[in-house]
This record gives sequence, C-alpha cells and structure tokens, in this order.
Amino acid sequence: MGYRFALIGYPIKHSLSPWIHEEFLRKANLQGSYQINEIPLEGNFKEEILKLKEQQVDGFNVTVPYKQKIIPFLDKIDESVEKVGAVNTVAYEKGKWVGYNTDGMGYVRSLESKFSDSLLNKEQRILLLGAGGAARGIFHGLIDNGFRYIDFANRTMDKALSIRNSTAKPIHSNIMTLEEVEKHIHSYDMIIQTTSVGMNPNSEQSIINLENIRAGSIISDIVYQPIKTKFLKLGENYGGRIHFGHTMLLYQAQLAFEIWTGKKVKADTMDEKLQQILE
Ligand code: ATR
Repeated sequence: MGYRFALIGYPIKHSLSPWIHEEFLRKANLQGSYQINEIPLEGNFKEEILKLKEQQVDGFNVTVPYKQKIIPFLDKIDESVEKVGAVNTVAYEKGKWVGYNTDGMGYVRSLESKFSDSLLNKEQRILLLGAGGAARGIFHGLIDNGFRYIDFANRTMDKALSIRNSTAKPIHSNIMTLEEVEKHIHSYDMIIQTTSVGMNPNSEQSIINLENIRAGSIISDIVYQPIKTKFLKLGENYGGRIHFGHTMLLYQAQLAFEIWTGKKVKADTMDEKLQQILE
C-alpha cells in the first residue's frame, strides 16, 4: 500500500500538491498516494480531521483557510509553528500528530536553488511587501538562515510591527508604508512580494512601482497564478533577477516530504515542468 498522504483546505480541487508529491514518491522509489480532502467552510471540521486520523495517513498538508484551525487537533507542534502560528504540514510520528510549518524554510530553499551564494550573502538588504501569514513564515525562514536586514512595507503598519516583534534575534528592520518605500527602493538587494495583489490571470496590478530598483537585485513574488505577475514583469523590465512563486510551492513540499519519509528528493528538475503545467 505504501505511504498515504493527504491535503486539507478549501478550495483545493486544482491543487498541484498531488502532482508534486506523486513525483517525489516516484523519484524516491517509494509506493504511495496523495489524496485531496476538500473541507467546505460549512463542513464539520472536527469530524473530517477525526476521519483523516482514523484512516491512519502518514501525514497531511494543510492550506487556507485551516492553517491555524488545525492546531488544537494536534498532539505536538514544532518550533516552526510556534514562531509562525500556522501549520502547513502534519506528520504521524510515534503515535502522535505533529504540526510543522515548512513555508519559510521552503521559501529559502527555493532562493538557494536559483541564486548563487554571493547573491544570497547574509548582509543583503531585504524588503518584504505585505505582513500576512505568508510574510510571517518567510520572515522567520530568512532570519533562521542568518539574514539580518529585513524591512517591511505594508498597507497596515501594525501588522508589520507584530511580525517584527515576533523574534528576539538582533535584526535591523524598518517599517514603512507602500508609498514611502518606493522612494528607497534602490537600496534593496532583494524585494519579496507576499500579498495577494496580482493574483488573477488577467491582473495588471503591481503592489508598488519598481522603476527605481537596483539592476541585478532579486525580485520575487510568491503569487504563481499567473506565473509571471505584473510585479515580476516590471522587475524584469527594470533589470531585476526575477524569482517565480511556484518554486516556493515546490520546496515547501520537498521539506514536507522529507519530514514524512526521511528522504530528500531533488526538486530542481521539476521546476520547469511545474511552470509548464501552470502556464
Ligand atoms: P496570507 O496569509 O496569504 O499572507 P493575509 O494574512 O490575508 O494572507 O495577508 C494578506 C497581505 O496582503 C496583507 O499584508 C494585506 O495588507 P494588510 O495587512 O494591510 O491587510 C495585503 N493586501 C491584500 N490586499 C491588498 C491590497 N489591495 N493592497 C495592499 N495590500 C494588500
């Protein structure tokens, strides 16, 4: 029968996670399956989770809108969840349901898969656009990997402040409005777009103007539908090195698979295929 994995969330009918994990299983020479368990908003969440546990799956992924709601149903949470307050991966370990968050670390791995060490040196000036759940995960992924200069620009300043205050590490971090940051945009080596702005196949919206970015700076968007957002198009036009959102999807999954099976499978060869599926 092999490994049994699942995904819970809503809506998830078109999720790419089954494709990614089935590809990982094949590459790792393991038997198994990955099922979609869509839980409608009006559904009985508790019952659905109990059913999943009864099925004795080896692990499951959790996506919107249940990344926080799942926490009380777990026996243990990893440090990554304590920092971010959200779960994207659950593993069945020695009779216990353990929650992890692989988003931040997955994001850092996606950067490492694309850019050289010199472009990712720890003195890089980083700007995070947005201060939601995704930004929080990425922020912790970055500081856990030694990055120290991370500014925020967000529509609601308080939310950025709350993320910045969620670490005791000595970091340098300024918080600005989206209007203000455009004036300083040339001072960043890496700009990471974490909001939902631009998430629409025909969207011509970019959260900020990138006209004055530094040539060669990394311009990253976590939105992957469309694959090349307006934000990335602008970044490319103004001389940035663009980093696609679907790579985060791939590497957070790589880390989840590693937690479930103990095997690290190479994901870089899947990047192009994933891009073709999304196009
Ligand atoms: P996620 O968990 O996916 O990060 P979220 O918690 O809803 O989603 O966060 C969404 C982020 O996108 C927030 O930073 C939000 O800004 P606010 O903190 O001011 O709410 C940002 N966002 C969403 N729509 C936006 C818009 N039209 N303009 C600017 N920021 C926007």
